Amino acid sequence: MANTDSERREASEIRRKLEEHNYRYYVLDDPSIPDAEYDRLFRRLVELEVAHPELSGTDSPTMRVGSPPVSQFDPVQHRTPMLSLNNAFSDEEVTSFDERVRKTLDVQNVDYAVEPKFDGLAISLTYANGLFVRGATRGDGMTGEDVTANLRTVQSIPLRLVKATSIRDLEVRGEVLMFRRDFEAMNERQRAAGEKEFVNPRNAAAGSLRQLDSRITARRPLRFFAYGVGEADAARKSQTEVLDWLLDLGFPVAKERSRVSGAAGLHTYFNKIGALRRNLPYAIDGVVYKVDRLEWQDILGFVSRAPRYAIAHKFPAEEELTEVAGIDVQVGRTGAITPVARLKPVFVGGATVTNATLHNEDELRRKDVRVGDTVVVRRAGDVIPEVVSVLLEKRPKYAVPFAMPSHCPICSSAVTRSPDEAVARCSGGLYCPAQRKQALLHFASRRALDIEGMGEKLVDQLVDRELVHTPADLYKLGVAELSGLERMAEKSAANVLAALEKSRRTTLHRFIYALGIRTVGESTARDLASHLGSIDRLIGASVEELESTPDVGPVVARSIRQFFDEAHNVKVIRELREAGVQWEEGTGRPVKGTVKSKTFVLTGTLRAMTRDEARALIEGKGHKVAGSVSKRTDYVVAGEESGSKLAKAADLGVSILDETQFLKLMEGSE
Ligand code: IVH
Repeated sequence: MANTDSERREASEIRRKLEEHNYRYYVLDDPSIPDAEYDRLFRRLVELEVAHPELSGTDSPTMRVGSPPVSQFDPVQHRTPMLSLNNAFSDEEVTSFDERVRKTLDVQNVDYAVEPKFDGLAISLTYANGLFVRGATRGDGMTGEDVTANLRTVQSIPLRLVKATSIRDLEVRGEVLMFRRDFEAMNERQRAAGEKEFVNPRNAAAGSLRQLDSRITARRPLRFFAYGVGEADAARKSQTEVLDWLLDLGFPVAKERSRVSGAAGLHTYFNKIGALRRNLPYAIDGVVYKVDRLEWQDILGFVSRAPRYAIAHKFPAEEELTEVAGIDVQVGRTGAITPVARLKPVFVGGATVTNATLHNEDELRRKDVRVGDTVVVRRAGDVIPEVVSVLLEKRPKYAVPFAMPSHCPICSSAVTRSPDEAVARCSGGLYCPAQRKQALLHFASRRALDIEGMGEKLVDQLVDRELVHTPADLYKLGVAELSGLERMAEKSAANVLAALEKSRRTTLHRFIYALGIRTVGESTARDLASHLGSIDRLIGASVEELESTPDVGPVVARSIRQFFDEAHNVKVIRELREAGVQWEEGTGRPVKGTVKSKTFVLTGTLRAMTRDEARALIEGKGHKVAGSVSKRTDYVVAGEESGSKLAKAADLGVSILDETQFLKLMEGSE
């Protein structure tokens, strides 16, 4: 039909124009036609495609509006793993990175491709014969989620490669993020619609990318920047050439990228981007340095899950000024009184901060934080915000030093502080509802008796209504008591009771840990359990006997003895046993000397298990897990996103195991 023929031509002409516009707008940042014209063309194309569905293909710009929701995302196996980067936090670390690289390559000088480190989400885009066919999240690096439908809606991701349909197969990697101004505008809209606002651009991007309904994603202002390819083809000799090529193929790449020479070049670039940072349209959390020559990258290779040829130089934690609206104290499980600054809300390190810990009385005195003060607040990533310092020149006349309360704000018991401790404590013990709540939460926590559903809201109510005084009371609860509580339907009450029932069967070390003896953490609890073998031996142990347990020193021994000298603590244990809480007791055996014990340090995320599980596995075989790397470390187990511990291990020459090697070793290690 002649009619269709001319319409086919018109449709393809419009598509070309829209693509070109997209390219100029998103890649070149140089729009050529007004928005109204774009909209007109778009509407006309929709009209044509509706009238002649055979005219539309998966690469049409009209396909960016989203499609009906899916019930879940399919897993996608990455053809080459999506790796993480090691981090550097100082110029010195960067200098030694360059030294290592030069030494390994045995060359005088190395050129680096340098780029901003986007604070978004890593994704992989697959193109077959020039068409976008699949997009996936990074996931654990090996397997991600298929979010093709969502990524189709991202305007800056080309649905078809520009001038390169001869490329059979291409995997592009990069980051999805949201520009700050788009984020603000979107939150404005959310606010106006009475909907939930997002904390920061990164969270907003993450939430939008993982929408099961891609029509929602389509309304979110996501952007994409490419930083590499899955596998480079032989025609490209350097990272710089790869990025130039991606730009030609229609992908946005960071305008701020550059190529520099040697460590000096890296330092200069870091400072330059640091100064530019606030003026960039998107958030970055550092810069990435990559050995430019791909041939050299190959020689350098990988350690565990991170390349030796690249490193991320992170910016220090962000700081902002704000005012102290008040200072409160919180009461912890062991009665520790922690002063907390209530702040005028301030956006720092990617989130709004309203509280910051002042740690303890000495810290508070040292910084002399007062109500009304203007203070510097620091926050890095997901770390707890803290008050760094006070701007004395801004201190109002009325500001007076903060006095630590002499009595607990919760139970009015005296606050005491022993001369050798930095921490002041409420002396109320389990009489204090705040401590009781914390003690119960600790008792129920995952590594203790693991009572699922026993969270803060429930414990608050149980204590406030005087239904529960000690952990033993938990086992006296019935449906009647529970279903009378807020947010507690009969079903959830039944779940809690089932969880309590399940928790009755436990192990000795979990039980000891659950008691919440001040100095007894999980690892000491394990040592005590295997050394003494039974709860009665523990209760009756003298300070000397306790001290003969590996890793138990005089301070810990004394605090354990003190705990069991309190008759009410022993009574709770008796009641718990009467309530049916049980474990297998042993005969007790010395921990040391039975196996050739090695010291492990865990870093990064493992694929097959959580950190706790890995720790249990190691300790179950009679080995130890330490928190930091030293010369005495035998093995560092490096998972995904391993950080500075890995670098330290490499520096000290400690053996590094990847997950597979680690599991192999564990199999044969008893
Ligand atoms: S290169 C083999 N370049 O950082 C190296 N990564 O810690 C692969 N990231 O999840 C990464 N900006 O998504 C590279 N310019 C950049 C980056 C970048 C952000 C992210 C990446 C990855 C994480 C690695």
